[in-house]
Amino acid sequence: MRSVAVVGAGQSKFGRRNDARLDELAWESVKQAMDDAGIVQNDIDSFVVSTVGGWSAELLPAVFVGEYCGLEPKPTMRVEAACASGSAAIYQAYSSIASGLADVVAVVGVEKMTESPTSVAVELIGRAGNYFWEFENFGMTFPGYYALYATAYLSKYGATEKDLAEIAIKNHYYGSMNPKAQFQKKVNLDEVMSSKYVAWPLKLLDCSPITDGSAAVILASEKMARKLTKDPIWIRGIGAASGTANMSLREDFVGLKAARLAAKSAYQRAGFDGDPKKLDLAEVHDCFTIAELLAYEDLGFSRKGGGFKMAREGQTYKGGVLPVNLSGGLKAKGHPIGATGVSMVGEVTRQLKSQIKGDRQADIRNGWGLVHNIGGTGHYAYVTLLSQDKGGQ
Ligand code: COA
Repeated sequence: MRSVAVVGAGQSKFGRRNDARLDELAWESVKQAMDDAGIVQNDIDSFVVSTVGGWSAELLPAVFVGEYCGLEPKPTMRVEAACASGSAAIYQAYSSIASGLADVVAVVGVEKMTESPTSVAVELIGRAGNYFWEFENFGMTFPGYYALYATAYLSKYGATEKDLAEIAIKNHYYGSMNPKAQFQKKVNLDEVMSSKYVAWPLKLLDCSPITDGSAAVILASEKMARKLTKDPIWIRGIGAASGTANMSLREDFVGLKAARLAAKSAYQRAGFDGDPKKLDLAEVHDCFTIAELLAYEDLGFSRKGGGFKMAREGQTYKGGVLPVNLSGGLKAKGHPIGATGVSMVGEVTRQLKSQIKGDRQADIRNGWGLVHNIGGTGHYAYVTLLSQDKGGQ
């Protein structure tokens, strides 16, 4: 396996983007990523497009997006792994460089979700669970699925709705400093606690929103990375796993087995011992506030049942054990499904290069960052470790 580095990153403004079509939105971040890497289309060997789609008419989004970005006739494909599509696309690009098939690969994640009314989008996302049994028979929605995790967690460990609210408060606080975030406003405990229930115990401010947006990264082999930049950020390990689509077959509702397996595999590949103090930051999949607490435990940042105490003690703000979601997370930055994983890797890359303006820049001490990206309700899980140092690969 060859070493692979991130050499460029870009992201569009997230939010309601009626001003741009899917291809135009994708180009915004592809252009930024190419400029950041100092390359043009001819330098790219292939490109991967991460989009879940279903909201609009494009049936062949990869060629449609690629052509607009000036990348035709390069090899391409669309990758889909629900909300983890972005990480799956990076995994694909990483594999083709590590194996020697390509030297420079562009990855773009793009989604336009607000073209459908929210009720339609919520129904479409709901079908991402077990369609015939859970969706058709019981009308499960995504907030409904994560509400099952929340009720199990609160009941088993004695956490409260206020502990969930702490995640929303933190992520909106950091989102308020991110000019590309969908919501750039802080929220307080009263606002979270008095927001309307969506699926008890989850309230509006416990949920990620419906979002349009794109993000892109350029990955390169070591030889190309050394030519292009003096500070490549190395992908030290990607771990991936899948979980049953059937909620009634899950072992329990207080964690995601696929996330634990993906973390174990990523840590092994990267030679990382799992000590959260060695990471400078983590971007985790907070599609609902409960999901961030589960992530703390699945990733080994805290013991089982201890995640809510980390939140209570403010341990995942800057200055704590490990800053989490300095981008604002899915909660405040927004969650354009196919773009999310790509935007997380872009964020950690910029953070490790100390390129973030203002107080949401992490203190970079060890040069390590982590991305945790979940698809469905734990159907897909990807954990990626990035570092300033190439290591002994
Ligand atoms: N956080 C904060 N504010 C939100 C919000 C959120 N998640 N979602 C919507 N809002 C705001 C909107 O900006 C809007 O504000 P405005 O009236 O000032 O313009 C208002 O709330 C109503 O927006 P609307 O789109 O009508 O909300 P809704 O009540 O129909 O839908 C949810 C809210 C939470 C049900 C919907 O956003 C949702 O389903 N989110 C989860 C998406 C999901 O499952 N993603 C996949 C996860 S893996």
